[in-house]
Amino acid sequence: MPIRAVVYVSGAGKGIASDRLGLSSGKLDWIVDDAARFNRNAGVTGVLLFDGERFLQYLEGPEDGLSVAYSRVLGASSHNGIVELQRGRVGQRRLPFWPMKWLPVEPQELRRLAHADWTRFNQRGDAGNANATAMDRLVGLVEPYAIAA
Ligand SMILES: Cc1cc2nc3c(=O)[nH]c(=O)nc-3n(C[C@H](O)[C@H](O)[C@H](O)COP(=O)(O)O)c2cc1C
Repeated sequence: MPIRAVVYVSGAGKGIASDRLGLSSGKLDWIVDDAARFNRNAGVTGVLLFDGERFLQYLEGPEDGLSVAYSRVLGASSHNGIVELQRGRVGQRRLPFWPMKWLPVEPQELRRLAHADWTRFNQRGDAGNANATAMDRLVGLVEPYAIAA
């Protein structure tokens, strides 16, 4: 079954923004639990990076499941200013680890990823390489958490 992916950035809504560790409100945990519950049934996996103000989310899965999950993302009022960075086919899953999980990142890290080259979604390089694609960078960032889990 072909796997499709989408990646976007957005701004966190009030009640989530400035709660970098996600500790004070619990809202982000609630959203991610809800997202993971849906994604698990839909065969969707990915990650949600959060820098205290902004999100960068990557989702991948079969077309039907992914499109419903993404429409839930687009309809959510807990974030705003969604900018889609890329969508398309991927040869195989790159982030199969979680139905969804949020990870804290530094603002400059999120900014660097958002401005990296997302055009070659499905090509593999090396995260440490100067020619690393945005996808390679994202995988490089996330993999240590997956190994630790
Ligand atoms: C940053 C963010 C990421 C989300 N990711 C997913 C997702 O991966 N899959 C999904 O089905 N819903 C996702 N959602 C939707 C939430 O699970 C939830 O249904 C929604 O946020 C609730 O609506 P509200 O934000 O208007 O309170 C996401 C929402 C936000 C704000």
